[in-house]
Amino acid sequence: MAKFSASFCFIILVISGCACIDSAMGGEIGIYELKKGNLSMKLTNYGARIISLVLPDKNGKLGDVALGFDTIEEFMNASSPFGATVGRVANRISNAQFTLNGTVYKLPANSGNNTIHGGPIGFSKVVWKVKKYSPDGPVPHIVFAYHSFDGEQGFPGDLLVKTSYTLLGDNQLCITMEAKALNKATPVCLVNHAFWNLGGHNSGDILSEKIQIFASRYLPVDSTLIPTGEIVTVKETPYDFLKPNTIGSRINELPKGYDTNYALDGSGNKKLRKAAIVHDEKSGRAMEILTNQPGVQLFTSNTLNVKGKGGFMYKPHGALSLETQGFPDSVNRPNFPSQIVNPGKPYKHYMLFKFSTF
Ligand SMILES: *[C@@H]1O[C@H](CO)[C@@H](O)[C@H](O)[C@H]1NC(C)=O
Ligand SMILES: *[C@@H]1O[C@H](CO)[C@@H](O)[C@H](O)[C@H]1NC(C)=O
Ligand SMILES: *[C@@H]1O[C@H](CO)[C@@H](O)[C@H](O)[C@H]1NC(C)=O
Ligand SMILES: *[C@@H]1O[C@H](CO)[C@@H](O)[C@H](O)[C@H]1NC(C)=O
Repeated sequence: MAKFSASFCFIILVISGCACIDSAMGGEIGIYELKKGNLSMKLTNYGARIISLVLPDKNGKLGDVALGFDTIEEFMNASSPFGATVGRVANRISNAQFTLNGTVYKLPANSGNNTIHGGPIGFSKVVWKVKKYSPDGPVPHIVFAYHSFDGEQGFPGDLLVKTSYTLLGDNQLCITMEAKALNKATPVCLVNHAFWNLGGHNSGDILSEKIQIFASRYLPVDSTLIPTGEIVTVKETPYDFLKPNTIGSRINELPKGYDTNYALDGSGNKKLRKAAIVHDEKSGRAMEILTNQPGVQLFTSNTLNVKGKGGFMYKPHGALSLETQGFPDSVNRPNFPSQIVNPGKPYKHYMLFKFSTF
């Protein structure tokens, strides 16, 4: 099943890589919809992002499980990249710099002395082109593309980036992210930064949702959330979700909540492996995430405080993000899996979200 879906994701990526016609919509911000069965979602090319994802609960009642806003202007204003494709390097880079092939690259710092979310104007804050759009039919999909220029937010070389969203049978969402370095080697780590609440975006906190994370080890961090370089066991720590447990079970042992990168178990960089499963008892909705990436960042919206869709106030722990990705600060950590993408060898990131009810 996972194998079938994985190859399906791959096929979609190949299709999306065809010589597609540039859409007339390039440059303008639009809102697009994908619909299959009882699942529908809205997206925008501003940050190649998810605006909403609507699906039934156990009683068949529809609900939107992705936090966000009613207008694009509010997405632009928000301090977090709700639903967006984040890059060129999504997670933190210590001291806003790295050395590659003998050259020191200085980046704009936007989180204390560190760089996060690809810099102050990362991929989540630019307008992408719409390359393909098929709102319904057997395989609804949309493909967004962006040409990042040499030196953008301090990063080396031109980079062609593509994010595609595809709905598959049985309430599955496949997201693929691809990047091609055109002329220089560069670090690349793209993530989807949806803020999920399976009870519904306006249902309050996610502390009673049950999570299982398929990772025996996690990356401890310093006070500025930069990994110390160690990869340690989750055993006997609040980070242990090898067996399903509620998110709130040990969250009080942490300063604010989870903002933690896990080293996923299972081998192979090419095949999809299970990252996490979330169950919400109240709504009966579940979400499983599979990926080909080595890590997943669990973030529990620790300082969230903003007025969202329909005027609902989003509060701390009002959502969780599960961002499959490489390890934070990899570019300064030779013992972490490399995130350097060289010309001629594209980066490919697959995410498969399986939604269901129980
Ligand atoms: C959609 O939801 C309805 C009501 O819950 C259900 O009867 C139906 O089987 C669902 N359709 C699909 C395609 O999942
Ligand atoms: C965006 O932020 C500015 C400054 O905080 C505020 O004045 C404005 O109303 C906000 N716009 C929207 C659409 O939220
Ligand atoms: C940033 O670096 C400077 C110089 O090393 C240091 O004095 C300052 O405390 C650092 N700021 C933070 C927020 O870590
Ligand atoms: C590294 O630098 C050398 C010499 O400047 C250059 O020939 C080579 O292409 C560079 N390698 C990469 C991966 O950019």
